[in-house]
Amino acid sequence: MNLIDIVKESLKKALVRAFPDHQESTQDIQVTSATQEAFGHYQCNSAMKLAAVLKSAPRAIAAKLVDNLENKEGVFSKVEIAGPGFINFTFSAPFLSQMVTAAYRDPRLNVPLPQKKQRIIVEFSSPNIAKEMHVGHLRSTIIGDALARLFEFLGHEVIRLNHIGDWGTAFGMLIAYMQEEAPEVLRGEKRADLPMLMHWYRASKKRFDEDAAFKTRARLAVIKLQGGDPEALKGWEMICEISRVAFQEIYNLLGVKLEERGESFYNPMLSQVVADLEKKGLITLSEGAKCVFHEGYKLPLMVQKSDGGYNYDTTDMAAMVHRIEEERAERIIIVTDAGQGLHFDLIRKTCERAGYLDPKKVRFDHVPFGVVLGADGKKFKTRSGETEKLIDLLDAAIQEATQILQKREHTLSREEEERLPKILGIDAVKYADLSSNRISDYLFSYEKMLKFEGNTATFILYSYVRVNGIKRKIGEVDLRKERCQLEHPSEIELGVHLLQFAETLQAMEEELFPHFLTDYLYVLAQKFNAFFRDCRVEGAVEQNSRLLLCDLTSKIMKAGLTILGLETVEKM
Ligand code: ARG
Repeated sequence: MNLIDIVKESLKKALVRAFPDHQESTQDIQVTSATQEAFGHYQCNSAMKLAAVLKSAPRAIAAKLVDNLENKEGVFSKVEIAGPGFINFTFSAPFLSQMVTAAYRDPRLNVPLPQKKQRIIVEFSSPNIAKEMHVGHLRSTIIGDALARLFEFLGHEVIRLNHIGDWGTAFGMLIAYMQEEAPEVLRGEKRADLPMLMHWYRASKKRFDEDAAFKTRARLAVIKLQGGDPEALKGWEMICEISRVAFQEIYNLLGVKLEERGESFYNPMLSQVVADLEKKGLITLSEGAKCVFHEGYKLPLMVQKSDGGYNYDTTDMAAMVHRIEEERAERIIIVTDAGQGLHFDLIRKTCERAGYLDPKKVRFDHVPFGVVLGADGKKFKTRSGETEKLIDLLDAAIQEATQILQKREHTLSREEEERLPKILGIDAVKYADLSSNRISDYLFSYEKMLKFEGNTATFILYSYVRVNGIKRKIGEVDLRKERCQLEHPSEIELGVHLLQFAETLQAMEEELFPHFLTDYLYVLAQKFNAFFRDCRVEGAVEQNSRLLLCDLTSKIMKAGLTILGLETVEKM
């Protein structure tokens, strides 16, 4: 059991015993981590809230709860009432030692399997065909992958979906243009890359605005494509394939796996969704367009344009229905920039009113994130100044890492020297993104993200290398039957923190904030460093107990970094 739950359960039992007529008040018992180390490990502030119901002063309630705590001697070394009625809890060293030993022996590191395994859809990345992936898509990819990895680690069934923008009227325009300028590419006889495609895309738009005859041909191409004309479909497929290759290059570099299920997948379901919304009386005509209006929102969800065409909104409605009814997802998560918040509010409301989404059965979260800013505080641009090219950005991070590593003294093998910059560069980019509260905008700086001190991937990886260095130095010791015995305050602190891994993951699972885990790892590295400063390991009487603590630190660091999608190294 988690430490926090042990405190909570003890308090609940004490409440039932102390106030047998108020059993329902157990739900008001809340426990948090202590705000200051001097206060112990956990605290409960619920006595104030309970005062009204229990008709007694908070301090008196706190005292009664403390009196009724069972086994407090073994579990806690101190339970104290402070201020108006706070209860502060300090776990005892023997109890913590026992818990650390158990965590060490548990292959799941004390992280419980879910009570009920859920089927969870995490939709992330979702770039657009014929366009470059930009830093917004990078954020979505990194955050979404971390969330997906978390759920996988916790033991859920995860479906990772890439909702690629692969459908819409622009493709007719592009096909019409390529039919004239690059027909061999459409036929698959000549290769092309994403920059060429983007160039054609822009040129086709320009031609569309200037040339009436072309406009007609483009419209015709759209109709053909939507009608399933084989030649148009083949051209579209070629275009998608060119983009896919470029996207895959980035996913490979990031080590991210995704299942492509683009907008086009939902195409056959669109008319049905609109018809169903109409049948349910949710549609209002607004200047010829079919809309769903919601109280408190000025803008409606528009599910069919006045010319009869479907759009982004329609596709997302169909995607929701498909994910709930066909995929049978119990939880749906969509990771996009915060700018799409309103869109997903409207999607949620419409789905609820249409009866597709029952919040009691399916949990839907739009996971928004802020804008990436450059060092100048303006929207991020790569060095070339052009639209941010993702692959360049990642390559630049690897370059920077190479330079930093070259300046250091090290004993790396040739192979390690080649492998390391790539791992470090990519890890740095990922960690920098994940460690900022995703809702705020975040400042992109190669210099900051590759620093050896502070809340960076480099610092954590370096600490990880240090822990393993100790293990390597002492050599193979069989720790399987070893028991941990925490004594020194730095040792106890590290032990408590190690035991908080599961509750950190559970908080992240609930609130979907990856920085909960980066913060945890940062503090873990700091606590480990303090322990290593204060407590001798090699050759000490306590060697094996301390080695066990090191090994558990190493395992939890590795597990945490893996959940964040970061690769670890053994030397650096
Ligand atoms: N392709 C979209 C964009 O680049 C993101 C898609 C997000 N997902 C969704 N279901 N609408 O902005």
